[in-house]
Amino acid sequence: MPSLFTRELGIDLGTCNTVIVEGNQVMVDEPTVVAIVVNEQKIVETGKAARDMYGRVSDTIEVVRPLRNGVIAEYEITEKLLKRMVRNVAGAMMLFPPRIMLTAPYGITSVESRAVHEAGLGAGPREVYIVPQPLAAALGVDLPIMTPSGNMILLLGGGTFQAAVLAMNDVVRAETLRTGGLRMDDAIIDYVRKKYGVIIGQPTAEQLKIKIGAAVPQEIQQTMEVQGQDQVTGLPRPVALTTDDIVDALQEPLQELVNCARRVLERTPPELIADIIDRGVALCGGVALTRGIDKYLTKALGIPAYQVDNPTTCTAEGAARALGMRAALSRSLMPT
Ligand SMILES: Nc1ncnc2c1ncn2[C@@H]1O[C@H](COP(=O)(O)OP(=O)(O)OP(=O)(O)O)[C@@H](O)[C@H]1O
Ligand SMILES: [Mg+2]
Repeated sequence: MPSLFTRELGIDLGTCNTVIVEGNQVMVDEPTVVAIVVNEQKIVETGKAARDMYGRVSDTIEVVRPLRNGVIAEYEITEKLLKRMVRNVAGAMMLFPPRIMLTAPYGITSVESRAVHEAGLGAGPREVYIVPQPLAAALGVDLPIMTPSGNMILLLGGGTFQAAVLAMNDVVRAETLRTGGLRMDDAIIDYVRKKYGVIIGQPTAEQLKIKIGAAVPQEIQQTMEVQGQDQVTGLPRPVALTTDDIVDALQEPLQELVNCARRVLERTPPELIADIIDRGVALCGGVALTRGIDKYLTKALGIPAYQVDNPTTCTAEGAARALGMRAALSRSLMPT
């Protein structure tokens, strides 16, 4: 029963980005990054402002991602960050504490989900729930998961790849890989070092991936020149990369994703497989924006895969919606 004064927030705390949705509205969409004064553990900046400080500040300030592979790695910092973001949305005084639905990767340990729950409580809400991310994402892209028919989703984030089959408001089969878009950046860093003897940083690798990268060879080759550091001399050295370079570099992490999706399909009952072949596989999360990933996965899985319209916000949108469906979802919400 929605109360007049209780605000309801869906919060997708991701390895790379945190999105907060109220109703149908995205209230926050910021990098999950915090800049802190090292000695005092005091927050200087959060979100985009903190991310932009990465690699550009003195040793007294540290820029950290408090989540690693979808789970909380730096508890104190995560709690502070969440509190700040919730207060920015719900008001500093919290006269009417909100009800919040946090998300967490499918299949995390009870210790890991308890940390999420406690970090949520630290923000001072009235109630805290946790929904598995693939379920939230499926709700956020309107898959008919309340029916007995099978639906498949691949949720491709910065720190996790999750493959899930859903039916009857529940996760039927799923698997989480603790690897994601950041691992793709690492694959690009390794490739550039091995092929050109140049060392580049993670933000540069991510730029290459987003601006000229693809999962399959493209008709139009793009080139991008980036600055790196010569592996031997340590001196600055520019290097020009092409779309084909990035396609090559990404094959290994993409293959891991395919293997994960195949394992989930192998364990899925045949009746549900027939539905999935009919409906296709929904690609969500920031990595779903990779050029040609739909083609790549369609070929590799033999099932049509399609990119959704709201890949980066769907998980938070679904979490907000899940608050209104708590009774129907009770079996699937994580115990806290
Ligand atoms: N256009 C794009 N092409 C390829 N990758 C992209 C694009 N846009 C964003 N990404 C990647 O998507 C990832 C972030 O996705 P997302 O915000 O869904 O992750 P997250 O929710 O923070 O992480 P997780 O759910 O794994 O904890 C980053 O690795 C980013 O580089
Ligand atoms: Mg995510």
